[in-house]
Amino acid sequence: MGFVQRTKSCGELRAEHESQQVSLNGWAHKVRDLGGVMFIDLRDRTGLVQLTLDPVSFPNRAEIRNESCLSVTGIVKVRAEETKNPKMATGDIEIVVTSYSVLGAAKPLPFPVSDEEQMESVNEELRIRHRYLDLRRPSMYRRMAIRGAALRRIRAFLDEQQFLEVETPIITKSTPEGARDYLVAYRLNPGFWYALPQSPQQYKQLLMVAGIERYYQIARCFRDESSRADRQPEFTQLDMEMSFVTQEDILQLTEGLMIDVVNGLIEEFGLEKDPVEPFERMTYDEAMYFYGCDKPDLRFGLRLFDVTEAVNTCEFGVFKNTIEAGGMIRGVRYPGGSKLSRKEIGQLEEFCREFGGKGMASIAVETPGPDAPAGGYVSPKGLTVRSSIAKFFTEAELDTILDAASAEEGDLLCLVADSYTTANNVLYRLRLEIGNRCGLRDPRKLKYCWILDFPLVEWDAESGRWSPSHHPFTMPKEEDLIYLDTDPGRIRADCYDMVVNGMECASGSIRIHRSEIQARIFTLLGIDEKTQQERFGHMLEAFAYGAPPHGGIAPGIDRLVMILTDTENIREVIAFPKIGSGYDPMMDAPSTVDAQQWAELGLRLSN
Ligand code: AMO
Repeated sequence: MGFVQRTKSCGELRAEHESQQVSLNGWAHKVRDLGGVMFIDLRDRTGLVQLTLDPVSFPNRAEIRNESCLSVTGIVKVRAEETKNPKMATGDIEIVVTSYSVLGAAKPLPFPVSDEEQMESVNEELRIRHRYLDLRRPSMYRRMAIRGAALRRIRAFLDEQQFLEVETPIITKSTPEGARDYLVAYRLNPGFWYALPQSPQQYKQLLMVAGIERYYQIARCFRDESSRADRQPEFTQLDMEMSFVTQEDILQLTEGLMIDVVNGLIEEFGLEKDPVEPFERMTYDEAMYFYGCDKPDLRFGLRLFDVTEAVNTCEFGVFKNTIEAGGMIRGVRYPGGSKLSRKEIGQLEEFCREFGGKGMASIAVETPGPDAPAGGYVSPKGLTVRSSIAKFFTEAELDTILDAASAEEGDLLCLVADSYTTANNVLYRLRLEIGNRCGLRDPRKLKYCWILDFPLVEWDAESGRWSPSHHPFTMPKEEDLIYLDTDPGRIRADCYDMVVNGMECASGSIRIHRSEIQARIFTLLGIDEKTQQERFGHMLEAFAYGAPPHGGIAPGIDRLVMILTDTENIREVIAFPKIGSGYDPMMDAPSTVDAQQWAELGLRLSN
């Protein structure tokens, strides 16, 4: 018997189909040969159903092994009460097979595809080397299905809003998004190279000059930078651009899109998530001050506090010296941390050093016990403190510290004395660590937030020049243009990030649409006129032909799916990801090419 076209899908069969003859196609998810009857869980993309093969009709079943591809015909039978399997959607029935064929026999497998628990300890490189098997797992299929559905919903929403999907080139010219380019040699003129786009930034702006007005693209982007848990060298953006809009228009449209898409997916896939609510908003300065970073996890409070003023004149040398050197004393509460042992506090101090801090001072907040010394410190709220540094502070100073921290009984106040930047960086991570330890990073919650008013440029000490916080096409705020020649670090931009649960999930800005401002910004960034013409002459020229004011944004699709599927690693939501330093173990890419290809491209290795 050969291949028989299926009449039903595995996952849809129920008791109501009793006695029907069905044909199914799929894979042998789990094969149990009990010597007599053979039980097979047959899997297709809709789910699993149990098959039974009796030994008399089918004595020779050697090719039916785990993951063999089968075509079967049989009769639906309701199982005896005691053999029903409530854990399976199709667990009330089984298929008594009347004929089958093995469409593709499977060799012994490199890993147990059907055993999710065992799969957790399988080496990831091995999984990716056999990704076509790894993707057969229902958990992986589900991630791909959520990803596909996200794209479908995005397209439907943007269609409704009269956006036009336009494709832009993949082999093109370098776009500055802060990473290294992937280069493609040009055969007809050795020494000339295309670059793969780090994003379609310039093309989408040129599409605005071209009058498209509302553009989007599910765009593949390429950046030759080291992979991280949330970063791949090749990833996907929902790239968008609009003309005649303000920042507010873009924020509202994107927020509406996200709420529609994410809440739709939560419902469609029964995701264990609370619906997304209207986004919070804060400025970049507020985010840095209260959370120490520009991507705060707002699923919990524990805002950083600042006691620099309060301890300005204290006797504690470390604090005094730091403040004199222009630094700050900032901290974060650790609820329940007053119970930590000396050793555990030592580990927190070490944690702070790992992230560049010099250390950490701490104050345990308690209520005075029955044997508290008479006349000891008690705050207006009835709290007392236990700390090796408490003796350096006056009671008024302690009052202000407890107040600034909104301290509660049981807290450990963790204090870091350092420059604003270092203290923030350390406390940002410490706050997340405390959030983890206290179980405050609730996976049910999706806390979206806009971070606004980024600085236009940052000083890059290494290269000794200003570099763009976002990219060089970002529009400075009109009122801050006066600082362009005198104090560029003060210029804020119409530039925004969308952050979800502590992860940057989109960036965008209002763009420069006037050649003279664009040229001034390039000059500020240390790009001389000749280089401006060579690299960006097409932009400067296009802006001289009636360019409309425009702006846009690009949410990362991979990160969106990571958040929705609670995956810690971006590779889990990409069908064929790269590992380590950009290696694809399945295709064995990158690879060498043959001598003729080298010769055609006029290339030779120099050593
Ligand atoms: P940006 O470089 O900030 O902006 O990227 C926008 C969003 O893309 C995602 N992203 C990544 N995802 C996975 N792996 C990576 N290596 C990676 N890099 C970025 C993030 C990020 O928020 N052209 C501008 C957008 C604009 O201004 O409209 C741009 O590319 O989710």
